[in-house]
Amino acid sequence: MKLIALLISNTGTGTNLQAIIDGVNFGKINAKIVAVISDTSDAIGLERARKHQLPIKICPKKQNLLSLLKKLNPDFICLAGWKQIILDEVIESFPNRIVNLHPGLIPDSMDGKVLNPDGSWGLWNRGKLTDQAVQNFLDNGATYAGSTIHFLSKDFDFGLVLGRCFEKVQKGDSIDSLYTRLKKKENRLYVDILAKLCQEGKMNILVIGSNGREHALAATYAKSKKVKKVIMTPGNGLTDYHNKKIKNYPSVTMMDFEGIVKVCQKEKIDVVDVAQDDVIAAGYVDRLEKLGIAAFGPTKKASQLEWDKEWARNFMAKYGLPIPKFRSFSNKKEATSYVKSLPEQLLYVKAAGLVGGKGAIRAENKKQAIEAIKSMSQFGKSGETFLIEQALIGEEFSLFAISDGEDFVVAKSAQDHKTIYDGDLGPNTGGMGSVAPTGCVTASMIRIIGIKIFKPLLKGMKKEERPYKGILYLGGMLTKDGVKIIEFNSRWGDPEAEVILPSIQTDYLDLVQAVRLQKIKNTKVVFDKKVRLSVAGCSKGYPGDYSSVKGKEIFGLIDARKMPGITIFGAGIKREGNKFFVNGGRIFHLVAEGKNVIEAKEKAYKAMAKISIEGNNLHYRTDIGWRDINRIKN
Ligand code: AMP
Ligand code: GLY
Repeated sequence: MKLIALLISNTGTGTNLQAIIDGVNFGKINAKIVAVISDTSDAIGLERARKHQLPIKICPKKQNLLSLLKKLNPDFICLAGWKQIILDEVIESFPNRIVNLHPGLIPDSMDGKVLNPDGSWGLWNRGKLTDQAVQNFLDNGATYAGSTIHFLSKDFDFGLVLGRCFEKVQKGDSIDSLYTRLKKKENRLYVDILAKLCQEGKMNILVIGSNGREHALAATYAKSKKVKKVIMTPGNGLTDYHNKKIKNYPSVTMMDFEGIVKVCQKEKIDVVDVAQDDVIAAGYVDRLEKLGIAAFGPTKKASQLEWDKEWARNFMAKYGLPIPKFRSFSNKKEATSYVKSLPEQLLYVKAAGLVGGKGAIRAENKKQAIEAIKSMSQFGKSGETFLIEQALIGEEFSLFAISDGEDFVVAKSAQDHKTIYDGDLGPNTGGMGSVAPTGCVTASMIRIIGIKIFKPLLKGMKKEERPYKGILYLGGMLTKDGVKIIEFNSRWGDPEAEVILPSIQTDYLDLVQAVRLQKIKNTKVVFDKKVRLSVAGCSKGYPGDYSSVKGKEIFGLIDARKMPGITIFGAGIKREGNKFFVNGGRIFHLVAEGKNVIEAKEKAYKAMAKISIEGNNLHYRTDIGWRDINRIKN
């Protein structure tokens, strides 16, 4: 059941308030009224509230409204005659949760127009209140008057439109006669809209992306009883194969924002999960929300933590987070003389922008570091600014938190295996396999990371006016001096998502909604106790050139998937009929579950042995989980 707060003043007679109270009492609106808030104690509506024994709060100062609302934390705040301006800070704290009624026809976009039922243009009445607005319909000889219910946005008399009603203007209408009829319709509309907002009906989700992480996400959403269908743009050849709830739009690519918006409209999408780094960095969350489409993930400003390593390191330094010594440069000469001034040591030279996880170069000595500086040009714009960092020595891990901007819950730890060959040799890839949870991260470490890293980070992000809402990924190093931050990412890891998401027992949609409504603090996330291990099946040649493998047939996937405890998430894979073909470097992620990492590994490789690619072109690592296995054995 949703919680709603109603805001009134001493204007009007409180008919909207009464309609909402009745709607709740008659069970049409599945909600509880947590407070009727008025700015004066003489509002007529208060009589109505008292009659129905509703909690009353008097809040004369608009500056005090935010703290009051935060305490009540309603799902929706309904303006029903509230006179005062709602401050921006309130709108920011309750995005798409403040419902307002405007006596005019608000268009869907700033430059749009509303059609009346007779085809004439509707009047917006922007900036006009009550009687003034009704007068405006009459003054302009409008054939229809109308009202709009919308979410409040920082734009004056604008915001996502939830519904409109129309009333035909009659000959000889006065303000009074017209408004009386319009009000009846407004009352009904308000109740209908709230009924819809509060209904716990099934939702349609869109997941953007086509890789293993996105497939794991789609499968996790599909598990929710509250989810009707999951749409993927574009998805891959496996995403929609075993799961009837998942549907692909293969022609709508990740960067096709307009295409994605069209799919949202066509499929009546309730929430978009942006899921993937490039898309998040392109500001999809902001852009979708602006269009009134709910999106899950951090805003462009919040995700600067990932897409701008220079900004991120400066932020971490400013808020005292544990990081290695670093300096950023845009000038190669200066960077080179800095390196020369250092004692001989292991360094990392890292492009500041996004380069698909391949922008960090390990330099064993100063000579290699100077070479690495030169090579930053290969990353184009992303490498124009770069960092020189002291190398952190220790064991690397990933730890995930789900944050609503104020609070967080720690999700789970995992360990990625980044290099292409066994023994952690060869060039870095997008990730060749993973284990979750990893024994590298203990419960006490998680507590300390919460206190020393996640908490101050969220506080800092808020202070920098970019509250972090979404999945927060800590790439950490367990050094002899404790945990240090390698980097933050603004999403689930890939291939970490594949081994974490299947273990979440809590309805994932509830988690997403808790983040959106800033209620993560009171949300418990339950995981099963199994260990999961993933192995990435790759095209021979990856992460280098594998073009000759593209299009080759993959065998044995379905047999492997049938084995107990095995799931397969697709990535660079295509399907034609019942046949699968290579369509990328990392083709699929096979995930095995077991009571411990040894059992999970055994199952995983037994299943992998069933899979092959035409011409012996399948490559995978055979030692995923080796650190955790050594930990158990020693
Ligand atoms: P990044 O591009 O920041 O994800 O870095 C890629 C990989 O480089 C990380 O997963 C680490 O293995 C390694 N790395 C980056 N920075 C450091 C550092 N300061 N010390 C040690 N390893 C690092
Ligand atoms: N696991 C590496 C990444 O997702 O960036």
